[in-house]
Amino acid sequence: MAAILIDGKTIATEIKLEVKDLVSKLRSQGVHPCLAVILVGTDPASHAYVSAKRRMSQEVGIRLIQHNLLQGISEFELIRLIHSLNADSEVHGILVQLPLPAHIEEHNVIEAISPEKDVDGFHPCNVGCLVTGLDTLISCTPHAVSQLMTRSGISTSGKHTVIVGRSNIVGKPLMNLLVQKTVGGNSTVTVCHSGTKNIKNFTVQADILIVAIGKARLVSADMIKPGAVVIDVGINRVEENGKTRLIGDVDFDHARNVASMITPVPGGVGPMTVAMLMKNVVKAATWSIRT
Ligand code: GUN
Repeated sequence: MAAILIDGKTIATEIKLEVKDLVSKLRSQGVHPCLAVILVGTDPASHAYVSAKRRMSQEVGIRLIQHNLLQGISEFELIRLIHSLNADSEVHGILVQLPLPAHIEEHNVIEAISPEKDVDGFHPCNVGCLVTGLDTLISCTPHAVSQLMTRSGISTSGKHTVIVGRSNIVGKPLMNLLVQKTVGGNSTVTVCHSGTKNIKNFTVQADILIVAIGKARLVSADMIKPGAVVIDVGINRVEENGKTRLIGDVDFDHARNVASMITPVPGGVGPMTVAMLMKNVVKAATWSIRT
């Protein structure tokens, strides 16, 4: 039997409506949630991601201020801009679109952002809070995966979750989210990566298989335990039959005959990620009243 599709678009719309409501409440209290986005250079994928963020901000009533910087900007100038946004009480969230040019140290830039405005959840303070289970700004893609499962009625408690990929943006924070003793956590987590020998040995044991490795169709149907839940975080642009297509890290067409539930690409994790960013901006704006 074909797997049930986990519909990221519908769940993202649900979250968008919740955010819109929270934004209205904040605005009635005189706070207009505002996100500052810094985009360096002309990378088309980064421009497309920022456009998606701008569109959703407009839909939910969040103000978005975009700073487009030249590819050759120095790290010093970039950090100076971040410091001025940190000091601006009208700005609640700051996001620097990654990747950055090679001459800029990414960690210096991330660490320059005030943790309470770090809506990407990348600052070491926020990562530390996530690890220790404190309330914090959680990075958007791991949070999207977790919400997608919770809102689709998938329990992670007591299940064996195998994550393929150990990036700072997805794999590592997701591992920390899923092991917490909370609703949406309490899972036994295995993380596979480029140094793992025979990944299939691990993936076939997964009740929940989450793939975030950035390699088109890396996970084939024979790597999936029958009846497993499969979450595909990958977004890969491929040329097929003279057309550019977006495909995931999982061989969807075959995997859907083995899994019990599966996310499509596009339309799975992708739309959820931007929705979770909006949630973080609202959270940061709410904190600004408290402080
Ligand atoms: N580039 C790819 N994914 C992300 C993300 O989640 N946040 C930022 N800032 N840049 C990215």
